[in-house]
Amino acid sequence: MSADSTTSEKPHRNEVTMSLAEAIAIGQTMQRNGYFRDAEIIYRQILAAKPHQPDALHFLGVVLTQTGRRDEGIASIMAALEVKPDYVDAISNLGNVLHEQGLFGHAEAAYRRAIQLKPDFADAYLNLAALVFETERFEEAVVLSQRAMELGPTIPQERLDAANALAREGRHADAAEQYLRAAERDLFHAGVHENMGQSLQRLGRLDEAEKVYRRWINLDPHNPRPHHYLASCTGVDIPSRASNEFIVDVFDRFAATFDERLTALEYSAPAVVVKAVRDESGEPQSKYTVLDAGCGTGLCAAGIKPFANHLTGVDLSPKMLAKARELNLYDKLIAEELTEYLSRSPVSFDVIISADTLIYFGELATVTAAAAAALRPNGRFIFTLEQADLMDAPNGFLLASHGRYAHTESYVRTVLEQSGFEVAGITETFLRLEGSTPVKGWLAIGRKAQGREPSPVFDPTS
Ligand SMILES: C[S@@+](CC[C@H](N)C(=O)[O-])C[C@H]1O[C@@H](n2cnc3c(N)ncnc32)[C@H](O)[C@@H]1O
Repeated sequence: MSADSTTSEKPHRNEVTMSLAEAIAIGQTMQRNGYFRDAEIIYRQILAAKPHQPDALHFLGVVLTQTGRRDEGIASIMAALEVKPDYVDAISNLGNVLHEQGLFGHAEAAYRRAIQLKPDFADAYLNLAALVFETERFEEAVVLSQRAMELGPTIPQERLDAANALAREGRHADAAEQYLRAAERDLFHAGVHENMGQSLQRLGRLDEAEKVYRRWINLDPHNPRPHHYLASCTGVDIPSRASNEFIVDVFDRFAATFDERLTALEYSAPAVVVKAVRDESGEPQSKYTVLDAGCGTGLCAAGIKPFANHLTGVDLSPKMLAKARELNLYDKLIAEELTEYLSRSPVSFDVIISADTLIYFGELATVTAAAAAALRPNGRFIFTLEQADLMDAPNGFLLASHGRYAHTESYVRTVLEQSGFEVAGITETFLRLEGSTPVKGWLAIGRKAQGREPSPVFDPTS
């Protein structure tokens, strides 16, 4: 392919000549559809012919960050901005990359510059609102989300009807392009509603938050997130744990940036859990059969591996598991709901760890009973939770506005004991920052009582 129709050389056989605009458009279509390597090749070919072409530099930068080469990506976007300093889309994308790295001040400056250059730039408002929310400026986040919503993309029904007609005619590529735009629009609205609802909830403006979630449900009835947040907002129909759909939706989106974001938040649950295993069992001797329940991207793996002769990870999110697989530290990785996996693995493990995962469970009795049954005699169940006060959670747990559950110490003790554990400790611990506020948690350690079965009065499903 030659990316420059102005070339005077005759194209070789099998070589297609296209205009720069066409080459860029093809690169972008590939990029949007997830063919990152192909898009990268196209942009690099354009740059071989025109090294300072700003669009190719910009889109190459985005592709590089999408494929994990962040520093190179930033350099390429910066190179685009050197050629064209007022290139708003590149400024906004630079903001996104900096935001993902937790460089909030620089990212905010980039978004604000993009808005200054293009005051009706809906995406920049949306992204700035998300950043402002993360830095706990909730009032401002509401205002920015409102502005994003006013400016946001709309797709008239006629366009969708036209896309359906294209599909019926067999013009699938054209139809797909239209559907993709519609999906991007839906993604935009999900982002705006989530930000606005969560900000209003944090401000205690629960009636307004409820309206936002209901509007979001109307627009996107099958999205599990507004249903989950609505329950946390109204306190009605609180699920006993976050639905599988909610978990997959949240963590599949989060997987690519999880490790980096959590490092920025001083995330310490894996270290806390691994230290507890060491305190319980002494120096590592590679002798335990270990389960990492809710293993995510595998942040516990390096610490726990020296204790394990066999290490299994189970998680619902395929994208989190894909990251864990890259580490090459697990002997087995399983995509399954962890309670179900525990229930079909009787007397299989010496140690079960679960870092920052049972915060997606309200009712704990079912999972603690399943863990007890999956442990060998004298096995350990070591996990973290977020803390709730008895005053706020008289029934033992609550679903907080951010969508995670928090538990009281007495509830955790009761369910562990009723499941046949001896409670070796429920101690206060630091988990991570939320904005700038430390999140206080529990480190819970249950020892499977030798030869003791769960109490007969205990019904794990009640
Ligand atoms: C906050 S991440 C923690 C991951 C890992 N333990 C760590 O410390 O980095 C929570 C993980 O639990 C998983 N998860 C939540 N509920 C689950 C369930 N019921 N079954 C399996 N995995 C679950 C999520 O997919 C996510 O990967």
